[in-house]
Amino acid sequence: MIIANGIAIHCRLLIANYRLTTYSFRPACVSFSAVDPQKPSRKRIAVIPGDGIGQEVIPQALKVIQASGADVEISEFDWSADRYLRDGTTVPPDGFVMLGRDFDAVLAGAFGDPRVKTNIHAKEILLGMRFKMDLYANVRPVQLLDAALCPLKGVEPKDVDFVVIRENTEGVYTDAGGVFKQGTPDEIAIQEDINTRKGVERIIRYAFEYCERNTKLDGSPRGRVMMCDKSNAMTHAGGLWQRVFKEVSGEHPQIETQHMYVDALCMQMVRDPRPFDVIVTNNMFGDIITDLAAGLQGGLGMAASGNIHPGRTSMFEPVHGSAPPIAGKNLANPFGAILTAAMMLRHLELTNEAERIEAAVLEAVRQKKTTQDVGGTLGTREAGEWIANCVHRG
Ligand code: NAD
Ligand code: IPM
Ligand code: MN
Repeated sequence: MIIANGIAIHCRLLIANYRLTTYSFRPACVSFSAVDPQKPSRKRIAVIPGDGIGQEVIPQALKVIQASGADVEISEFDWSADRYLRDGTTVPPDGFVMLGRDFDAVLAGAFGDPRVKTNIHAKEILLGMRFKMDLYANVRPVQLLDAALCPLKGVEPKDVDFVVIRENTEGVYTDAGGVFKQGTPDEIAIQEDINTRKGVERIIRYAFEYCERNTKLDGSPRGRVMMCDKSNAMTHAGGLWQRVFKEVSGEHPQIETQHMYVDALCMQMVRDPRPFDVIVTNNMFGDIITDLAAGLQGGLGMAASGNIHPGRTSMFEPVHGSAPPIAGKNLANPFGAILTAAMMLRHLELTNEAERIEAAVLEAVRQKKTTQDVGGTLGTREAGEWIANCVHRG
């Protein structure tokens, strides 16, 4: 059972399929009683720390959420490599239906463990949530908090403030295809790239709407949407993306449109990231360019993401993986997970709490109260503690 200062243990259940620990964070000075179904303000959050450093950074994110006083009820699930190796379960029956029905948001850590060579649990849990809960927009903000974190010369925070809107339910990630004549010299492996009109249109539309509704860190408006593809070589899928982009952009005449092939975009990102504002792209290119982009922010330990279907239970996770070599050593940077928690709270309209958490991370980076990967000397727990104290003090 996880007990931290001030956390009110609401209840603890052990259900055959779900190992579930539920507790509520109690805002300071507000009297607390058992969950009131009539009180819609309390947000229900499912937490799945997962594997490796996921199990270290997520407790820090929870500590910080608690310090913010956010009125949330946390239920923790042990879906992970450990659980899979113990009883063969990746996701319990109806697990995704349960998440959508019983929770306002999901906060996940990372999935991947060298003991599970097939990576089946990661595929079924992580990609399962994205696909089966139809979380079609993977929103990955790329914001440089301090010049010291960027490997590029002369680049300031105002120069790196863009977002990648990654299509999250299609492309090569559908894993459609197969292997024919396996193990023979004539073996054929086919990995299909699925692009539907509906899927392409909704992600491009999401990018334009995101551009309209969101500002940069300094409060200035966003104004440009860039589509990133490889339509010069992948003409069938590229043609669909190109046509839909043109059509949807026509509905947003005030937004400037741009286009780059993914190879040229990678080069541009490390030469001069200033032209980027909102980038929309397919599932695989979005995966690759967001690790590259994380490098501009100080590395994977700083990058946050949300897997979103507007109006439905959405899932939030740091961009990084389970980082087996550093797992269990109190080395992992918890800021990506903490910023992810802030992104989730903002999504749940707990804006004040989100802003205070983001401000604390900014302050920690400025004061070098960070883990080693971004130049500090703190451990995972100590960095999380620093943020929690800063948020708590206000
Ligand atoms: P990774 O993101 O785990 O690690 C890449 C590099 O970044 C490593 O050097 C690691 O030490 C470093 N790093 C990552 N997060 C860090 C943090 N918070 N603080 C400090 N350093 C950090 O990627 P990988 O090594 O390619 O993959 C490891 C496992 O994680 C694999 O099983 C992979 O499939 C899985 N993975 C899962 C997710 C996810 O669950 N969302 C994402 C990526 C990779
Ligand atoms: C990510 C990860 C996943 C992806 C892996 C673990 C399947 O790299 O979230 O970026 O490729 O989407
Ligand atoms: Mn990735």
